[in-house]
Amino acid sequence: MTMTLTSTASAGTTLRASAAEKGRYFGAAVATNKLSDNTYVTVLNREFNSVVAENEMKWDATESQQGRFSYTGGDRLVSHAQANGMSVRGHALLWHQQQPGWAQNMSGSALRSAAINHVTQVATHFRGKIYAWDVVNEAFADGGGGGRRDSNLQRTGNDWIEAAFRAARAADPGAKLCYNDYNTDGVNAKSTGIYNMVRDFKSRGVPIDCVGFQSHLGTSLASDYQANLQRFADLGVDVQITELDVMGGGNQASIFGSVTRACMNVSRCTGITVWGVRDCDSWRGSDNALLFDCSGNKKAAYTNVLNALNAGPGITPSPTTPGPTTPAPTTPPPTTPPPTTPPPTTPPPTTPPPTTPPPTTPPPGGCSASVSLNSWTGGFVATVKVTAGSGGTSGWNVSVTLPSGASVTNTWSATASGATGTVRFTNVEYNGRLGAGQVTEFGFQGTGSGAGLTPTCAAS
Ligand code: XIL
Repeated sequence: MTMTLTSTASAGTTLRASAAEKGRYFGAAVATNKLSDNTYVTVLNREFNSVVAENEMKWDATESQQGRFSYTGGDRLVSHAQANGMSVRGHALLWHQQQPGWAQNMSGSALRSAAINHVTQVATHFRGKIYAWDVVNEAFADGGGGGRRDSNLQRTGNDWIEAAFRAARAADPGAKLCYNDYNTDGVNAKSTGIYNMVRDFKSRGVPIDCVGFQSHLGTSLASDYQANLQRFADLGVDVQITELDVMGGGNQASIFGSVTRACMNVSRCTGITVWGVRDCDSWRGSDNALLFDCSGNKKAAYTNVLNALNAGPGITPSPTTPGPTTPAPTTPPPTTPPPTTPPPTTPPPTTPPPTTPPPTTPPPGGCSASVSLNSWTGGFVATVKVTAGSGGTSGWNVSVTLPSGASVTNTWSATASGATGTVRFTNVEYNGRLGAGQVTEFGFQGTGSGAGLTPTCAAS
């Protein structure tokens, strides 16, 4: 069961190939009614080797009347996955949202039995076809307490989560069983509450194999994102990024890159799923939160993710059949929880973060450029936003003077001439023509410092 980091030089050209080369998967949430959309399916099949049903395996979809199960959408997705070499994440057996009306109106032991029956029936139906199940979704509260969220399920007794995990294990012993939640993107009160639950489950032999981090992200990423994944991995569970999407705009590409790097750097991070294929498929409306634009074109964020997959260390994945959970023999859990950082400043994700549009007044004539930087010791990623002036552009170039010692190592959505000193970035074929006020982005990665970059833009 030990996973080893291996360093293989490789450069896949699709997300699925690059992730697979590193022993991981790269997945997307799928709405099965889009499987007849050609553009959608072309991108899905080319880039992803894992899928999750955006809605079709939820309680309201699978058991809309008590005891009458329907698996049409879920089965369709499983067939599509099997025909295209994709694994399937199951989402979600129990959740306080998207319950059928009959369950919303239940309580106490009747609800408990109905919920456990639901877990048993659905996990049995899909037995052998699911890589990992989100057995319980979003059961912890937001805010400072680190405790459980109130819900009809929680009111059946605090042990409802472990009862669900035991039922899922009995029904499908081959699936990894995950707890999944949001606003857990760093060490904070909520993630620590979950951490303590997982540690408790492992110590008592409750079957849990993985923790999902939804990662519906705003305009910044917690600096301890990777450290948080690692502390869960150190408890002896796999970790996965399960519903990744990021507010469009300046930091999007670099955040996508950072999240991917964090996963690659944690040997028990077995895969990443983005919550949709194209921007227009996203539940986040106009946030443009995904890796492909509405026409299916790759965005700068895509390139950052691909590069991070190619640059990251590989793992030898553990067998899909989870081993028996052995109680942790050692020290009793400390009575003081690990230190917490203040709650994250990113907006809560169940309601998508508010769209803060950039100023809409176009600069007069020509074009303008602004840069946002994601730096680390020895390197940086710059995302440059180009805004067309009142005349629009048929092409543009942006010049940037790098500090001495810095050089450009990689560029996306533009062509660079030179690598040190003053570097000139010219539009690529698809992003040169901009209407008045229209915005496009390109990016580049560099070594050294990117401090103080002041881009100048010229239109043609
Ligand atoms: C969302 C879907 O994307 C929407 O289509 C649906 O209307 C509501 O649910 N956390 C989760 C996902 O675990 O199931 C949610 O998906 C997004 C938030």
